[in-house]
Amino acid sequence: MQGNLVVVGSLNMDLILRAPRLPRGGETLAGHDFATAAGGKGANQAVAAARLGAQVAMIGCVGADAYGARLRTALLVEGIDCTAVSEIEGVPTGIASILVDDAGQNAIVIVAGGNGALMPAHLDAQAALLAAAQVLVVQLEVPQATVEAAMIRGREAGCTVILNPAPASGPLPAHWYGLADYLIPNESEAAALTGLPVDSPESALHAAQRLLQVGARRVLITLGSQGVLYADAERHAHFAVAPVVAVDSTAAGDTFVGGFAAALAAGQTLESAIDLGQQAAALAVTRPGAQPSIPYRHELPA
Ligand code: RIB
Ligand code: NA
Repeated sequence: MQGNLVVVGSLNMDLILRAPRLPRGGETLAGHDFATAAGGKGANQAVAAARLGAQVAMIGCVGADAYGARLRTALLVEGIDCTAVSEIEGVPTGIASILVDDAGQNAIVIVAGGNGALMPAHLDAQAALLAAAQVLVVQLEVPQATVEAAMIRGREAGCTVILNPAPASGPLPAHWYGLADYLIPNESEAAALTGLPVDSPESALHAAQRLLQVGARRVLITLGSQGVLYADAERHAHFAVAPVVAVDSTAAGDTFVGGFAAALAAGQTLESAIDLGQQAAALAVTRPGAQPSIPYRHELPA
């Protein structure tokens, strides 16, 4: 299976601290492990799509520093085209400080750094990449104007556009809904977008219906251990997932998005794209680190 895919988005160096639990405000807590790993939602999704079979190009920005060089190399070794990953002088590479507790839950603080320097103008030179792609994927760790420009140009180039509204803290600009073919929030993002509680397939369906009402075309809400809820104007379906022992959920959502996108780019059906995303994400949850946890196609059941 192979299709061409472009990811417009973030690259972060993840600084990962493990502790028995997440600290409360004002509390100092002793952790028991520290590691760095390549991350960033955009780069994670690019790696997932590449490991699961797509031909991927990344459009993003890093600082002119050692972390930036390491992040670029991490993509290159996956065969990802990085000609559109720019090095920006005078800003640090994006950073994510990630706290993981012993139950595999995480809390993350990101500093955009170079990701904040990705401008709509960076897309100007990439018409050929977009024209060659079946699917364009974008998230919210780069400036809003760039997210919007990516979706508009992706549509103009005939790409299927996937918007992963992550992280989200409130509703999206109303005119964005129609710019994406697929909107893929997780539970908390779906709640932030709609103002509705989302913690089950039933409540996710309500949120998805609200998103369809305001103009979304197809909505996939990822619910962690409760699977995925899909809805469009004609139908809706819940896709359950087999239980796994969670070690670190970091990048599980990105793995779903990347796997789903790779399958769509290869012309697979919605159902098999969801299935590939779910199988890959389930494995990513059982392993530590963002990009290091993302599986290759050969690790999944046939
Ligand atoms: O979705 C996981 C990612 O979010 C991490 O890799 C971190 O970089 C943050 O951007
Ligand atoms: Na993981």
